[in-house]
Amino acid sequence: MKISQALSVTLHDYVPRAGDMRSEILGGLSANPKTLPSKYFYDERGSKLFDAICELPEYYLTRTELAIMQASAADMANVLGPRVLLVEPGSGTSAKTRLLLDKLHWPCAYVPVDISREHLITAADRLNRQYPALEVLPVHADFSQRFALPVPRLPAACTVIYFPGSTIGNFEPDAAVALLKQLQQLAGRKGAMLIGVDLNKDRTVLEAAYNDAAGVTAAFNLNLLTRLNRELQGDFNLERFQHRALYNSAEGRIEMHLVSLADQSVHIAGETVRFGAGEPIVTEYSYKHTLPGFTALAAQAGWSVRKIWTDEQRWFSVQYLTAD
Ligand code: AVI
Repeated sequence: MKISQALSVTLHDYVPRAGDMRSEILGGLSANPKTLPSKYFYDERGSKLFDAICELPEYYLTRTELAIMQASAADMANVLGPRVLLVEPGSGTSAKTRLLLDKLHWPCAYVPVDISREHLITAADRLNRQYPALEVLPVHADFSQRFALPVPRLPAACTVIYFPGSTIGNFEPDAAVALLKQLQQLAGRKGAMLIGVDLNKDRTVLEAAYNDAAGVTAAFNLNLLTRLNRELQGDFNLERFQHRALYNSAEGRIEMHLVSLADQSVHIAGETVRFGAGEPIVTEYSYKHTLPGFTALAAQAGWSVRKIWTDEQRWFSVQYLTAD
């Protein structure tokens, strides 16, 4: 781990190893069904398309969670108590965090954790200037791998993991439990978590959220192939693949696919991959939990759900979990 000064903040840098993209991609494309890891959506264009998705009328998740935060951040701050060390895995622009920071009682420090170094430094620097009394300690790391928390100047009463956006929904149940366990180790025995969890609802609402009329989600999904063409010398013809998102009610998840429109061969990273007409590549799962289902999942990782805030329609939830 390296400690360096970047703009107005001190960066704790775990220099996350770029995973072996080639072997992960080729492994996924030789599986049955074919898969591509959703983490590769977020190159520069993919991150911008995701920001655009969050503004779409059909994508209820972001605005519903923001409304919950606007209505209840003060209550959340009371529940969390004073002198919190707030840690945010996958912090991005820290947009929702401001709503919480504005209400927290004498937070001792904020630790944004992100894999994208430049975005992290820019967001941390901005927060540092906007909240001069708050110590901002950015950590450059892949939050699914182990890293240690920086020690704040002031002692913390409690470490709270803030994990909004229903990012947990993109992990299959076993991986979600493993991640929740790891976050608990980070928070410690007296730690707590505030987590955004998308809830199960009518299929038409769910499918519309991932098949928007403007085609932004389709562009986001297909951009994965553009990235593979660029970074792994692929020759995917984007006209021969189609975005599809379906709700699998048995598994309680949206499944995003890229469907091959023809029998075709694609070259990538020096290998040839064959597709049949109609054959899908699974690019993402987005789990939609029930409240009891998420309580049970969290319990498997040793977390207890203590308080839940939802919107009137019960479409989204922000949940307060403790480790004891
Ligand atoms: C980041 N994650 C919670 C989003 C979701 O809804 O599962 C990713 C996304 N995929 C398509 N639209 C949004």
